[in-house]
Amino acid sequence: MSSRKGILLAGGTGSRLYPVTQAVSKQLLPVYDKPMIYYPLTVLMLAGIREIAIITTPEDQVQFKRLLGDGSQLGLDFVYIVQEKPEGLAQAYLLAEDFLKGVPSAMVLGDNIFFGHGLPELLARAGSKIDGGTVFGYRVADPERYGVIGFDENGRALSIIEKPEKPPSNYAVTGLYFLDGTAAERARTVRPSGRGELEITGVLDTYLAEKSLDVELMGRGSAWLDTGTHSSLLDAGNFVRTLEERQGMMVGSPEEVAYLAGWISETELAQRAEMFGKGAYGNALRELLR
Ligand code: DAU
Repeated sequence: MSSRKGILLAGGTGSRLYPVTQAVSKQLLPVYDKPMIYYPLTVLMLAGIREIAIITTPEDQVQFKRLLGDGSQLGLDFVYIVQEKPEGLAQAYLLAEDFLKGVPSAMVLGDNIFFGHGLPELLARAGSKIDGGTVFGYRVADPERYGVIGFDENGRALSIIEKPEKPPSNYAVTGLYFLDGTAAERARTVRPSGRGELEITGVLDTYLAEKSLDVELMGRGSAWLDTGTHSSLLDAGNFVRTLEERQGMMVGSPEEVAYLAGWISETELAQRAEMFGKGAYGNALRELLR
C-alpha cells in the first residue's frame, strides 16, 4: 500500500451552477453515467492511493456517505471531514492535518476530470517523489479563469498566479496537487487573499521559492475537462459518452480500477454489479467479469 494519502476536496457552494446545485452538491451531479466525484476518486486510485479523506460541506456529507460508504467495497479506506465554509483550497490541508499525520499526499478537486493516455505513468512519477511537490499544467484557451503558471526562459516554473488579469502563459494549474509531508505546516502560513480564501497558490509559492515544485505538462493528447458552467458540464458528459460508446469501455469507474488493481476480488466485483442492478453501469461491470 502506498504511504501517500489522498484528499478529495468536494465542498464549496457550486454557486456558478445555481439553481442546479442549490439542493445537491456539484460533485454529485452526473457526468454522463457517473457522479462527478467518481472521476477524481479514480485518479487517486490510479495513483495507488487507498486511504482518502473526503472533505464536504456539513449538509452534503450524508449524501457522500450514502454514495461512497467507508470505501471497503472498493478496497479503500475513507475518512469524512467537514469544511464549514469554503474558505479556500489550502484550508483542506489544515482540516486534514490529523489524517495526514505528516505523510505525503495527493489532493484532487472533486470537480476535476482527467483523461488521457499516459495518465497512470504521470501519476506514478509524481507519486514516487517524496520531497517537494508536483502539479500539472494544462494548456487552455482561457487561462485567466485558473491558477496560471509563469515560466522562465528555460521553461522552468517561476510563479503560479491565481486568476491573473494578464496571464503569463496559457498553462493552467489543474486541481491535482502532489505535495510532501510538510504541506499542512506550509498551509498554516497562508493568509486569506483579497477574495477571503486561503489560496492553494500560497502553499505552492513556498515550494517554488525552494525550487522544489515540479510542473508536469499534460500533453494535447490528454483531456482536463471543465465542469464550471452549465455548458461545459454538458460537454464533459458528452465527451465521456463518446469515448465509452466508441470503445465499449468505461472512463472513471472506481470499481474497475479497484478490480484491476487486485483490491477487490471477482466475487466482490460481481456483488457490486448485482447491487447496481440492470442498468448500464451494472452491465458494464458484468462485462468486465466476462
Ligand atoms: O480547477 C483548477 C483550479 O481550481 C485551479 O487552476 C486554481 O488555481 C484553483 O484555485 C481552483 O480554482 P477555482 O476558482 O476553479 O476553484 P473553485 O472555488 O471553483 O473550487 C474548486 C473546487 O474545490 C470545487 O469543486 C469546490 C471545491 N472547494 C473550493 C473551495 C474554495 C472546496 O471544497 N472548498 C473550498 O473552500
